[in-house]
Amino acid sequence: MSKPRLFVTRIIPPKGLDMVQALSADYDIEVWQDPLPPAHDVLIEKVKGLTGLLCLLTDQIDANLMDASGPQLKVISQMAVGFDNIDIPAATARRIPIGHTPGVLTDATADFAWALLMAAARRVVEGDKFTRAGQWQTWGPIDFLGPDVSGATLGIVGFGRIGQAVARRAQGFDMRVLYFDPKRQSEAEQACHAEYADLDTVLREADFLSIHTVLSKETYHYFDDAKLKLMKPSAVLINTARGPVVDPAALYRALSTGTIAYAALDVTEPEPINMDDPLLTLDNIIIAPHIASASFTARNKMATMAAANLIAGLKGERLPNCVNPQVYEA
Ligand code: DGY
Repeated sequence: MSKPRLFVTRIIPPKGLDMVQALSADYDIEVWQDPLPPAHDVLIEKVKGLTGLLCLLTDQIDANLMDASGPQLKVISQMAVGFDNIDIPAATARRIPIGHTPGVLTDATADFAWALLMAAARRVVEGDKFTRAGQWQTWGPIDFLGPDVSGATLGIVGFGRIGQAVARRAQGFDMRVLYFDPKRQSEAEQACHAEYADLDTVLREADFLSIHTVLSKETYHYFDDAKLKLMKPSAVLINTARGPVVDPAALYRALSTGTIAYAALDVTEPEPINMDDPLLTLDNIIIAPHIASASFTARNKMATMAAANLIAGLKGERLPNCVNPQVYEA
């Protein structure tokens, strides 16, 4: 009799992959070897008759895919904290537990938001391009001036784990921290020395605005022309959350007309960004390829956490980190 099948949609860091491969006595395991994700129709073929799926945010996990798999599918474990690529209500309706990896990438992502903030403020990427282009001829007293970080106001929208970690780092720069979150986080705001304010106030007063909201129907293109127009012309916008939270056309208009001064993105809409996207023609933007969690420690922990969720699901146990615990209710 053939063994039950597991599919891993990309090569993941070795510690997590080893945990999955250790199941090979009991499961047929396929790990997608291509550096690019499987196309959706290929993924649908792969999941037919599958028992466990370990996937990434680049895989679209919809109701069709769940139905193509069949009722024997015990678990979907995603190696990411975000899960906007997965139809959670569809999974819950089919009683499929969904795993994710919260907590372990908080510091790496907050560090990277700060890397973008500093790089944008002090024009590091522009300076590097200038040097490589052979344009550095002398020390320039009025060259590459940028806004001060120390003493500035940091606005944070979305005050969950990562937003709070970004706020804590601001203490080292003597910043005033203002945050908005639909749910006021009174305990955390004290611990992080942050002040709660309504969204318009945060937008109006921030010198640097760091976005940490989840992507949902409500937050799609949340940062639109109207919101960007509330910001200071000198403001810098940093997005390490999800690309579609910011309307890219509105951001282009804001950056190209001086509505805001600069943006630094780790996430875009779509991903990867189209090479003819007008944002790529601007000098006052930094665009990184969704690498905020790409520290050795964070990615290894994400992989082991995803493997642990997969293994628990295969055993019929509660996932240690489950997005839809309703599947365990009677
Ligand atoms: C996540 O985990 O959701 C990040 O966007 C990628 O690490």
